[in-house]
Amino acid sequence: MTKDADEGSMKGKTVVITGGNSGIGKETAIGLASRGARVIITSRDPSRGGAALAEICERSGSAEVEVVALDLASLANVRACTDELHRRCSQIDVLVNNAGLILGERAESEEGIEMTLAVNHFGPMALTLRLIDLLAASEGGRIVNVSSDAHRMARAFDFDDLHSRQRYRSMKAYSQSKLANILFTRELAPRVDGLGITVNALHPGFVRSGFARDGDLGGFFGLVFAVSTRIAAISAEAGARTSIYLASSPEVASTTGEYFARCRSRRPNGAARDSAAGRRLWELSEELIGESLAPAKAP
Ligand SMILES: NC(=O)c1ccc[n+]([C@@H]2O[C@H](COP(=O)([O-])OP(=O)(O)OC[C@H]3O[C@@H](n4cnc5c(N)ncnc54)[C@H](OP(=O)(O)O)[C@@H]3O)[C@@H](O)[C@H]2O)c1
Repeated sequence: MTKDADEGSMKGKTVVITGGNSGIGKETAIGLASRGARVIITSRDPSRGGAALAEICERSGSAEVEVVALDLASLANVRACTDELHRRCSQIDVLVNNAGLILGERAESEEGIEMTLAVNHFGPMALTLRLIDLLAASEGGRIVNVSSDAHRMARAFDFDDLHSRQRYRSMKAYSQSKLANILFTRELAPRVDGLGITVNALHPGFVRSGFARDGDLGGFFGLVFAVSTRIAAISAEAGARTSIYLASSPEVASTTGEYFARCRSRRPNGAARDSAAGRRLWELSEELIGESLAPAKAP
């Protein structure tokens, strides 16, 4: 049996998937709904969310699919989303932080945070910390953070130019944000251990999806990305396998703080294993998002 064929039944489980209206997130939703989970996708656009809901129901054969609004570029919107999830759910068994973007030009979120880092790191961290009580209410809550091997392009987390004000380069901003996903995963793991919650990060592969569409990534790099996507990328369905594996497989029920690719644990780069940087990013992020969690227990 291949590793990804070894996923558990998800009957009776509630799963929240950010960015579930497109690409890898939508295929993750279909995979988990097919295994019996109640699936709540988030979408920042109601019409895209509605269209995805219909497709997920049809392709999974499940009617237990819902949409909630979420724009990770606004911390106020993140709070509204977690309030809505508290109204709808008494527990969340799996949170898949899948939504993400890359931008050709520098932009800022509602709170003045560089947009890539806001949507890919600060928003998901705020969402996660505000949902910890619902994940703790599950027997074995799981958090799955969709990172990327693009983190390997970052030699260290750049605290000096956090908001890319001195110089903006789209790939640098993106690789920093994906590095932040792994640093966050490794810092969060010991903090939620006592609550019976696991957290792992992953690289989905190089995937044909809606990623970097509509001029999100312009210029020469955008062209190279578009051409190589056509030639070399895997389907979004294949790209969802590691997310589905981490969300559902009994094999990883107690695995935490790790980085996966192709359903196997991999060593992230040195920058992602830098615990001092992880702690510094955690503290800075807590302050910036105005959310916190009890510190890790001493070993
Ligand atoms: N594709 C790849 O080769 C690849 C490789 C490594 C890692 N990844 C990661 O995989 C994840 C999923 O990407 P994908 O390839 O499936 O791309 P995608 O099809 O573009 O999906 C990205 C999702 O994120 C959502 N999103 C973007 N900005 C948002 C915001 N401000 N608030 C809330 N949601 C927002 C998008 O919503 P809209 O539809 O409204 O834009 C969409 O649902 C991302 O985290 C990406 O970094 C992708």
